[in-house]
Amino acid sequence: MTTLSSNQNASNQHANDHRGSHYDVIIVGAGAAGLMCAATAGYRGRKVLVLDHANKAGKKILMSGGGRCNFTNLNSTTANFLSDNPHYCISALKRYTPRHFLELVERHGVEYEEKTPGQLFCQHSAKDILNMLLTECEWAGAEVRLKTGVTQVARTPNGYCLTAGGQALTCESLVVACGGLSIPTLGASGFGYDLARQFGLEILPTRAGLVPFTLHPELKMTLAPLAGISCPVSAECNHEQFQEPMLVTHRGLSGPSMLQISSFWQPGDELHINLLPQQQVEQDLLSLRKLKPQSTLEHYLNAHLPKRFAQAFNELQRWAGPLQSYRNPDIEHISRTLQQWTIKPAGTEGYRTAEVTLGGVDTRQLSSKTMAVLEQPDLYFIGEVVDVTGHLGGHNFQWAWASGVAAGQAA
Ligand code: FDA
Repeated sequence: MTTLSSNQNASNQHANDHRGSHYDVIIVGAGAAGLMCAATAGYRGRKVLVLDHANKAGKKILMSGGGRCNFTNLNSTTANFLSDNPHYCISALKRYTPRHFLELVERHGVEYEEKTPGQLFCQHSAKDILNMLLTECEWAGAEVRLKTGVTQVARTPNGYCLTAGGQALTCESLVVACGGLSIPTLGASGFGYDLARQFGLEILPTRAGLVPFTLHPELKMTLAPLAGISCPVSAECNHEQFQEPMLVTHRGLSGPSMLQISSFWQPGDELHINLLPQQQVEQDLLSLRKLKPQSTLEHYLNAHLPKRFAQAFNELQRWAGPLQSYRNPDIEHISRTLQQWTIKPAGTEGYRTAEVTLGGVDTRQLSSKTMAVLEQPDLYFIGEVVDVTGHLGGHNFQWAWASGVAAGQAA
């Protein structure tokens, strides 16, 4: 592999003149899916070039998992993926499983740990995963060329001609691994969708997923002083439910439960949050009223929620007085409020902070075996650019690896 930086551009040009600008496979995008595909195709003896307009390969890998990359999830099943065509991802995910990726990680001596059950993170740094992939590309003889944006692609009788960094490059097989729209500062662009449209493919509507919620001013003001507080909740929207921590931020609500449920939320939808998923609140309060009639709701909340959150929530609901002053219907109502706290988010933080893009290239037009366009089998779409989106917890990288390998075995 040759990783080129800006001051290597001149020698890059020279090297190209020397080697020729024709490749068996050109991959657009040196992210998770593109690098995995490059190594796989390279090991098959294909002459592979990966192009990326960014100054570094795998920027999202480096940012992921808080800098430690949640690179897979041992419990990943197809139920962890959203798609308009839910069966599409099954074949690739079955052929390249989390265990396969883990074997690769172990072969490279990358130290890792299981944080939440199934979620594997690097022990030290996400750099270990990126270096592993770049080493694999090097061993497989795949070239990675950075700071080289692809601006145009044209079909030729034998494949494709690309304009990249002002140069014309040709290939037999073209793999589009440009990712989605999330976090433009990390290199995201809509180029993969443009290419799909250019070749007549349908794009399903895209929207930000795994993204924090923003709140309307009144609730935002009430909760803003609680920024930084996290509590375990169960969040529900459109018949999906996630029991994970929720984090209050200066802008709204985040944390794993909110990120997860955001992928199922549409503007205008309500969220139902169970703030005490482990408690039988109504029964607890009825017993407490009997045993300690002078006890207050604040006491009860303090015992089960972070103290500052309990106080703010109590103020928000204007609950006051001893429990003995509440009648049974009041207690039933309080319990519903705590276990089905209903809020209507103002929106989400959008692509600026979203971990993924939902929607994308309609997979009905692609082969689930090779990831190639059914009617144009030398054109492949892999990773986030297609309409397959994982839950939080390592599933999105698992899709990138699996779809990258599937295409790399065929391209
Ligand atoms: P990816 O976006 O990685 O790569 C696309 C590449 O294409 C980029 O390098 C881009 O520069 C390049 N490109 C775009 N347009 C181009 C053009 N015109 N010419 C040339 N190159 C072009 N997932 C997970 O499983 N575990 C985790 O811990 C996290 N954490 C996480 C944190 C953050 C902050 C984000 C934003 C995302 C995550 N994810 C994640 C999601 C994960 O990063 C994502 O699903 C994969 O990176 C998708 O891999 P792709 O290779 O498809 O796209």
